Amino acid sequence: MLCLGIEGTAHTVGVGIVDESCRVLANEIDMVRPQAGGIHPREAANHHADAVVPLLRKALDAAHVDPSAVDVVAFSQGPGLGPCLRTVATAARALALALDRPLIGVNHCVAHIEIGRGTTPCEDPVLLYVSGGNTQVIAFARGRYRVFGETLDIGIGNLLDKFARECGLPFPGGPVLETLAAAGSALLPLPYSVKGMDVAFSGILTAALALRRAGRTLEDLAFSIQEIAFAMLTEVTERAMAHIGKDEVLLGGGVARNRRLQGMVARMAQDRGARLFVPPGDLCIDNGAMIAWTGLLMHRAGVTMRLEETAVDQRFRTDEVEVTWR
Ligand code: ATP
Ligand code: FE2
Repeated sequence: MLCLGIEGTAHTVGVGIVDESCRVLANEIDMVRPQAGGIHPREAANHHADAVVPLLRKALDAAHVDPSAVDVVAFSQGPGLGPCLRTVATAARALALALDRPLIGVNHCVAHIEIGRGTTPCEDPVLLYVSGGNTQVIAFARGRYRVFGETLDIGIGNLLDKFARECGLPFPGGPVLETLAAAGSALLPLPYSVKGMDVAFSGILTAALALRRAGRTLEDLAFSIQEIAFAMLTEVTERAMAHIGKDEVLLGGGVARNRRLQGMVARMAQDRGARLFVPPGDLCIDNGAMIAWTGLLMHRAGVTMRLEETAVDQRFRTDEVEVTWR
């Protein structure tokens, strides 16, 4: 069985094709890179509209399959930016109708977990999901993926991207700051903000920008932001693991590619006799393969959606999805 998934919740549009053993046959992405300022939803949607058909062709070519070999079509139903979601949903509906195949709307956050479970040996992890717009600690409990902790303001990736942008560094800021941080050494005072299992990052952004204006080096600032923000994330992840009694931790989202974050969480896991799992980088960032795999799991579990049920949901919550496939 083959499922083709289309992702498009924010600045990335992607098409992935997976089979029933979670083998990724194709995973093609294309990303809007704003010249200045943040991402504009309408511009991103226009970009996705232009990119989606070429990406579909590219993915089918990469997988060496004919469109007719696709058994199920899945798409990212939310959460995300309205115009982007609608563009991708329209493309997915058109494809499913043209091929006369079932169409399944997938929760983007759930897809980050499922691709991790599908491509690493973990079984029942706590997921630390760290991307641009999202920062959540998620775990399976009583039939649903539940959010145990989350950011109270901006996502961790957003902190990194915004700080980088204000300092004139290119987008996305996360990888640039990771490189700079490796050359930093002074731990500067930034607000460590953990409330129970929740975190807040906007205070770090304000304080870091003030220190920049006061002449601190980008290297030391990148280093300090990583040390403080990642320690906060590690702390809440550990608290969730202790609270729910799970001994696996999975990373997901673009920021999961960061080696320092991986190192901190690995150390925490080791200290508590737990195990860390990190999916390959191209499956950590937003991608179509994770949507395809989750759509396939849902389809196999008997989930069906009428066309009317495929409306997008900008605020689609992780725990709204009834997880019938595990
Ligand atoms: P979502 O819609 O899930 O909120 P997103 O569109 O921001 O996500 P991702 O592709 O998961 O999506 O992640 C992008 C983020 O990951 C950006 O903020 C980027 O700076 C960050 N990032 C990528 N690589 C690294 C890295 N090596 N270190 C830190 N951050 C990174
Ligand atoms: Fe994401």
